Amino acid sequence: MLKGKKILIGITGSIAAYKIPLLIRLLKKAGAEVRVIMTPFAKEFVTPLTVSTLCGEPVYGDFFDRETGQWQSHVDLGLWADLMLIAPATANTMAKMQAGIADNYLLTVYLSARCPVMIAPAMDLDMYKHPATQENLQLLQKRGNLLIAPATGELASGLCGEGRMEEPEQIFQQIETFFRHENRFAGRQVLVSAGPTFEAIDPVRFIGNHSSGLMGVELALAFAREGAEVKLVLGPSAIKVNHPRVMVLPVTSADEMNEQCRLLFPQSDITVMAAAVADYKPAEVYNEKLKKSNDELVIRLVKTPDILSGLGKQKTSKQLLVGFALETEQEEANALDKLKRKNLDLIVLNSLKDEGAGFGHQTNKVSFFDRTGHQESFPLKQKSAVAGDILHRLHTMMTMDDVK
Ligand code: CTP
Repeated sequence: MLKGKKILIGITGSIAAYKIPLLIRLLKKAGAEVRVIMTPFAKEFVTPLTVSTLCGEPVYGDFFDRETGQWQSHVDLGLWADLMLIAPATANTMAKMQAGIADNYLLTVYLSARCPVMIAPAMDLDMYKHPATQENLQLLQKRGNLLIAPATGELASGLCGEGRMEEPEQIFQQIETFFRHENRFAGRQVLVSAGPTFEAIDPVRFIGNHSSGLMGVELALAFAREGAEVKLVLGPSAIKVNHPRVMVLPVTSADEMNEQCRLLFPQSDITVMAAAVADYKPAEVYNEKLKKSNDELVIRLVKTPDILSGLGKQKTSKQLLVGFALETEQEEANALDKLKRKNLDLIVLNSLKDEGAGFGHQTNKVSFFDRTGHQESFPLKQKSAVAGDILHRLHTMMTMDDVK
């Protein structure tokens, strides 16, 4: 799996740097080509001699080769790599990556790299928990960087908590999985809807909901990272999506979302409706701003089109259609009913009962029900990890059905 893969490791100044020589050995044994960049502080924790001996290449870290006086191109190294791994990644380096600061060789390579980037943070538990670190990390993930989440355990400070860099064997496994999944959806056309819809009352007011669009955006990015061409029909959302294989089609209302989805659906191999579509819209939209007059105001609402049901009716046997369900009672029975009624292949049930799940959270807790009766429940996870689980399930279904 890793034979011939070009892996660029960036080591920053953390005690966890001592684990990297072992990771280099594992990667080399698996047939990968490994190059390493070390920041000046990283060299205090592990010697460049150890690293260069193991990877069979000189260590990078300076803009100039002192012996030959030649300039080292950071662009070349970034283009060489199939994958860049920054491990251990300190809070300082992550903050600079987020802000686009390029004050060392590693950061210039990071900013010019075109390959996927994995980050394995390592730091003290309070530094890791700090809102600044968490926000930087979330932003980096939103931009497509992949997180190798730190484990919970004993830290160099003597404290115990989250912040310990994953063990080399675990990082190795995640790299292997990454390459195994890299092209799972290559050549597939994927349609994802995300975000809320806003239904206009008058020129300044609307009926909407609290959906951030994150779950659908994570799905779109996950499909794109695994090779698919993605059309993301995105309701009003603050999230900016930037991936060469994700085409964003912004919409505002349920009617606009319906129009885009129906247009794109016939060409889509896989469609996931993650949007929180408003079920009702005002029967009439006022041309002028409604003035405050009576003590009561009645706005008559009419149903919006059920986009997912419409797509379910058009679906061919070569297409996979996925819906989400948000239930507050009889969760399983309602989800199964929606699966059948809307002619879906898979329904993802969001649990609203659990702290941290659903609207406005970075995390979600879901269960899957598919048309074959297969059912699976997952613990609370980052929405990016939930997206990974959904892709995994769909890939299994695709291979079973041989939908091509
Ligand atoms: N959905 C849709 N069009 C709508 C409403 C919902 O495409 N007008 C899609 C959502 O994107 C989601 C699924 O239908 O994938 C389930 O949405 P939900 O609101 O839970 O279901 P409803 O069918 O609206 O049923 P109810 O509100 O009665 O639970």
